[in-house]
Amino acid sequence: MCGIVGYVGEQPALDVVMQGLRRLEYRGYDSAGVAVLDNGELAVERRAGKLANLDAAIAGHELPGTLGIGHTRWATHGAPTDQNAHPHTDCSGALAIVHNGTIENFAELRDGVESRGHTLRSETDTEAVAHLIEERYVDTDGDLAAAVRAVCRELEGSFVLVVAHRDHPDLVIGARRNLPLVVGEGDGENFLASDVTAFINHTREARAIDQDQVVELRRGGVRVTDLDGVEVDGETFHVDWDTAAAEKGGYDYFMLKEIQEQPEAVRETIGGRIGADGRLHLDELAISDEDIRGFDKVFIVACGSSYHSALIGKYAIERWCRLPCEVEMASEFRYRDPVLDRNTLVVAISQSGETADTLEAVRHARQQRAWVLAITNTIGSSIARESDAAFYTRGGPEIAVASTKAVMAQLAAVYLVGLYLAQVTGNRDLDEVRAHYRDLVTIPDLIAEVLTRMDPVRKLARELAGEERVLFLGRHVGYPMALEGALKLKELAYVSAEGMPAGEIKHGPIALIDKGTPVVVIATRHALQPKLVTNVQEIRARGARTIVLATDSDESATPYADHVIRLPDTKSLLSPMLTLVPLQILAAEFAMARGLDVDQPRNLAKSVTVE
Ligand code: F6R
Repeated sequence: MCGIVGYVGEQPALDVVMQGLRRLEYRGYDSAGVAVLDNGELAVERRAGKLANLDAAIAGHELPGTLGIGHTRWATHGAPTDQNAHPHTDCSGALAIVHNGTIENFAELRDGVESRGHTLRSETDTEAVAHLIEERYVDTDGDLAAAVRAVCRELEGSFVLVVAHRDHPDLVIGARRNLPLVVGEGDGENFLASDVTAFINHTREARAIDQDQVVELRRGGVRVTDLDGVEVDGETFHVDWDTAAAEKGGYDYFMLKEIQEQPEAVRETIGGRIGADGRLHLDELAISDEDIRGFDKVFIVACGSSYHSALIGKYAIERWCRLPCEVEMASEFRYRDPVLDRNTLVVAISQSGETADTLEAVRHARQQRAWVLAITNTIGSSIARESDAAFYTRGGPEIAVASTKAVMAQLAAVYLVGLYLAQVTGNRDLDEVRAHYRDLVTIPDLIAEVLTRMDPVRKLARELAGEERVLFLGRHVGYPMALEGALKLKELAYVSAEGMPAGEIKHGPIALIDKGTPVVVIATRHALQPKLVTNVQEIRARGARTIVLATDSDESATPYADHVIRLPDTKSLLSPMLTLVPLQILAAEFAMARGLDVDQPRNLAKSVTVE
C-alpha cells in the first residue's frame, strides 16, 4: 500500500528519489520520507501529510549524495505522524529502511528487540525490522545482504524492504514477499521501485523481483538471490510506456487526463487481434485449445471496479460461450471453499495486479488445480506471475487512485476473452466471432465521440454537487455500470450513492425516493428496455429527479426524464463501454465542484495490498 524508491548512481539521489515518489504517491499519501547517504552519514527527513510537506521540509537542503531511498506511506501500524513515517533507522542511525506491507509477527519481534536493549521510537512494525537487521548485521560480520536475507526468514506477512547502510556507499538492498518490487537497470545507475513509473524517465529496462528474493543494487550491476543466498535470474522486460503518459499533460488532475485517454486504452488493448488465418488470436493466453475445450465452468474474481468489469464479463461469456460463469468478490471467494477443479477456468481481474484479496483468490484457485487467467494492466505483477496465463490490458499507467481507463481497458479485455473462448470452444462460428470483434473495433471512436458530448454532464454534476444521496439504476449490462457509477461517486465525492438493478427497487429501496432525489438510470436500450421504462415511471411518480442515459435512436425512457444524457447507438452488450464515460465524468465533476482532490480521495490507495 506504500510507494518505495531506492537509487544508487551518479545523480543526486534526493532528486531521483523525490521524483520517483511523486509518481508513486497514488499508492499512499499520508506521510513520506527519504534517506540519503551523504559524507558517510544517512541524512533522514520525514513528514506527515502529502509529499508536498516533505518537499517543503527538504527545500534548500544541500545533499549531493548519490545513494538514497524513499517512501510514501498508507498507514497500517501507527497513525500518520512524522515519527511513524519511513525511513526508520536502527539504534545508531547506521541503517535506514523503508517498508511496504504488514509484518504479522511484529508484536513478537518488537518485544524481542526491546528486551535485547533496542529503543523503538515509533509505533510501526517496520522499526522492529530495522533493529533486527542491526543485530543480524553484526552476526554476519557486516554482510548487509546476508543480514537482510536472515531477517526476511524471520518475518511473517507481506513486505517489500529497501535498506541502505552508511558503511556501504555502493549498495542498496531490496527484498520482497507478496508485494511488488521492480528493478530499473540503467547505465552506471540502478533503481528499485514499487512500479516502473518511478524510474521510466531514467531507464526502460526493468527486472521483476520474485517472491522471497533479495536484490543487491550497485552502480555497476544488480545481483538477485533467494533467501538462502543462491543467485537467481530475474525476468527482464522493456517498458514501452510513454513518459508523458505518467505526467498530467496539461490537465488539472490525472483522472481527467486518464478519462480522455480511454479511446486509446481500448484501441491498444483490442488492436491487431485477427491473424492472417482470419481467426481471433490472443497469443498471451497460453492455455491450449484442448484445455479450453475442457472447461465446464468459469469463475471471475475481482474487487471494486474490477469486480464490475467482471460482471460484464459474465454477460459476455455466458452469451457467447454458453458456459456457466460465476462472478465473486475476491475477498469472499476462497473463504466459502468454491468447487473448483481442472475443468474450471478462474479469471482474476486486477488493474494493479497486486490486490491482496485477488492474489489470495488466485493462489486458492491454483491450489485446487483450476486454470487461472489474470487480466491486469501491470506487467510482471504478482497476480500475472502467479497465474497460469496473463492477458495484459494496454491501458498505460493509471495514476489517479480511482480507476477509469484501466476499467475501460478491462471491459475491452473481458469481451475479447469471451469471444476467444467462444471461438475455441466452437460455440460461435468464425463469421460471428469476427462480426463481434468488428463491433468492438468501432468502440474507441464511439468513446471519443461520447467524450465530445460531456459538457451538459459537467453542468449537471455542478448542479447536483450539493446532494448527499444519489441512486443509480440499470438492468442487464446496465446494472454493473450502475454499481460502478455509484462507486465512483462514493469514492470521489464522499456522497452516499447506491447502485442497484432497476427491477429490484420496488422490493424496498424505492422507500429512499423522495421529492428531488437524484436517480441516474442507465437506459441504453436492450431486451429489458420496456421493463426499465416502467421502473423509471415508478420512481418519477414518487418525485425522483431522473437523469436518464439513453441512446440517440431511443425515445422510450426520455418522456420520464428530467435530464437526458445521449449516447451513440451500439450493440447493447458493448454499451457499458460508452455508459462508463458519463458516469466517470459525473462523479469527477461533482467531486471537483465540492473542492475535492479527485486524484487522491481520502482513505484510499491505488494498490490495496492488505486483505
Ligand atoms: C475504484 C478502484 C478500486 C479498485 C479495486 C481493485 O475506482 O480503483 O475499487 O478497482 O481496489 O483494484 P485492482 O483492479 O488493482 O485489483
